[in-house]
Amino acid sequence: MTALDEAPQRSATRFPPELTRRMVDRMRDGSLDTFPHAVAEPTSAFTDPVRFERERDVLFRHGAHVVGWAGELPGPNTFVTKEVAGVPVLITRDGHGELHAFLNACTHRGAQVAQGCGEARRFTCPYHAWVFDPIGDVVGQPEAWAFADIDRSTLGLRQLPLASIHGLLVVGLSDDVDPQAEFAAIADQLDSFGYDQHEVICTETFSLRANWKIIVDVNLEAYHVKFLHRESLNAFVMNHAVHDIFGRHARWVFPTFADASIVDLPEEEWPEPAPLTLVHMFFPSCVILETPVSSQMLRIYPGDRVGECTVELTEASIRPVQSEEERAARGLGAGFTGKILGGEDFPVAQQCQRGAESGLQQFVFGAIEPMLQHWHAAWRDAIAAPTDDVAVSITMAPVDSER
Ligand code: FES
Ligand SMILES: [Fe+2]
Repeated sequence: MTALDEAPQRSATRFPPELTRRMVDRMRDGSLDTFPHAVAEPTSAFTDPVRFERERDVLFRHGAHVVGWAGELPGPNTFVTKEVAGVPVLITRDGHGELHAFLNACTHRGAQVAQGCGEARRFTCPYHAWVFDPIGDVVGQPEAWAFADIDRSTLGLRQLPLASIHGLLVVGLSDDVDPQAEFAAIADQLDSFGYDQHEVICTETFSLRANWKIIVDVNLEAYHVKFLHRESLNAFVMNHAVHDIFGRHARWVFPTFADASIVDLPEEEWPEPAPLTLVHMFFPSCVILETPVSSQMLRIYPGDRVGECTVELTEASIRPVQSEEERAARGLGAGFTGKILGGEDFPVAQQCQRGAESGLQQFVFGAIEPMLQHWHAAWRDAIAAPTDDVAVSITMAPVDSER
């Protein structure tokens, strides 16, 4: 659990200035961050049911997952519910401001004790009306005499590991997970993003016929933007990306405005916030697109089969909305992103899945797609894939990153 008043002082800028400097350097010389080689990934990574079951067990059931922002629980006695890799989760803030996470499953016979989000001092199960408080204790049982031989203190909601890392909510789906430790490598990088102030605007859910990793992959490179998104995003995005790796997590940054006027300005005249999009990649499958005014979170989870997944796209304002106009503007932003993902990225990702299932032997990740290389290595490392199933370098030639 973690307290309301733990929120640290935030620095004035949302995006680290050092990142903007590196990005502008890349814009000026027409290049981008690269890895030394192209590599190949066997398509079995996206089609093998044995690997898929191991991923579900190691990465998801025994992993730590970013599920939202502390700003979603803005005061005492507030709550949110989340679906996390098929597991119903309830997060509460109690009357003292402490956060708690629970399996959203009644300890009588498993029904979900809460739906949606809001304010509540009590959670009443819809089935037989057992009542729980925000710290998970049973505080009401109709016909309680019938359960008198079970110690009521053993019937509280099952607590799940939870950390609020500068307002980023991270949950473990089993007791052996330490969310704080899993995010220690990147925690210091998150203090300027104001996650404790975020207000969710809307969420859209997608059910897709593609392995969950292919859907993560579409967020990891801008190489495709001027082709797949030539009529949409291409007007806004330039592929002069820089990236940083923090343990298994990572971030990458690309310039957002194609007019590139920032390159002609001295640093003291750069606009604030900087004209860029920063993409946080939180292991194993959460992506946040950080824009100057919003955070767009993608939570990507395996489906029932290796070639299926679900995606939750959540749009948040980076601070509580002040007007209906502002809410409408954020809603439009969410609609724009949902349309591009749902109309352009996800359909082509499903095509890639068909290709993988049709006998293609490998996918190839270029030197200009360093995040893809990092993430596939991190996933393989985490599930300790056998050595005959690892990516291999397919070229040793120096790579020219000029565009
Ligand atoms: S399942 Fe919740 S009260 Fe019976
Ligand atoms: Fe895309």
